[in-house]
Amino acid sequence: MERHTVIANWKMHGNQAEGVALARGVRRLLGNRFPAVEVVLAPPFTSLETVRRAIKGSRLHLSAQNLHWQPQGAFTGEVGADMLRDAGCSHVIVGHSERRRLFGETNGDVGRKLAAALDASLKPVLCIGETLRERRDGRTRQTLSAQLSGALKGVSKSVKDCLILAYEPVWAIGTGTNAAPAQVMETHGWIRQALVRRFGAAQARHIPILYGGSVNPANASELAAVPEVDGVLVGGASLDHRSFVEIVNAFSGREA
Ligand code: PGA
Repeated sequence: MERHTVIANWKMHGNQAEGVALARGVRRLLGNRFPAVEVVLAPPFTSLETVRRAIKGSRLHLSAQNLHWQPQGAFTGEVGADMLRDAGCSHVIVGHSERRRLFGETNGDVGRKLAAALDASLKPVLCIGETLRERRDGRTRQTLSAQLSGALKGVSKSVKDCLILAYEPVWAIGTGTNAAPAQVMETHGWIRQALVRRFGAAQARHIPILYGGSVNPANASELAAVPEVDGVLVGGASLDHRSFVEIVNAFSGREA
């Protein structure tokens, strides 16, 4: 069974040719002895189709980075869940801190997006995380709690195998400074308990909690060694296929 999930978030990087080269590089390096890790690539919308073709027949999964909660309509510039399914996506990132911070997404919006993704059988990767100020003010749990309840409000108890959580402290994203393993362990443990309260232990056990924020080949092994870390969401380091595959490999060696 795949116990870990490693996701490449390419953000707004690369044209189609670059996306295909990156996807092919990952595919080639993971090769036939594909590790027991769920590996997901999240290119920009414009490269979904070419990357889909480049990974066809492999065990790589395709994700979008965002969606709108309506299935269709007069929403210029937006893309709905069924459209993403149609484009070959199995996953979608929801509530990334850049969406919240730069594009004004609220916890309510994130909840609507999450529900739309689940309705369309897309696996949402729900991102939550505190800012530096929130952490310094001792408001980390309060922030995470509000983000979780906003996003999961309408979600029924049956989330087994259809939801992924990503804890991404905003201060660690793109800064080169990852959260310390002890910090990650503590926060993931708290998130797990929050999920147990909401969904019950049997369901909560099946929701992977990934860490994100300056993950790279140098720190991947120590993050993989944290018992509460079920994988990682990788930004910058996923733009280099060798670095990304090194990170995947760091998560493949652990016993279930
Ligand atoms: P980073 O980004 O790895 O570049 O810090 C992570 C993310 O934003 O998902």
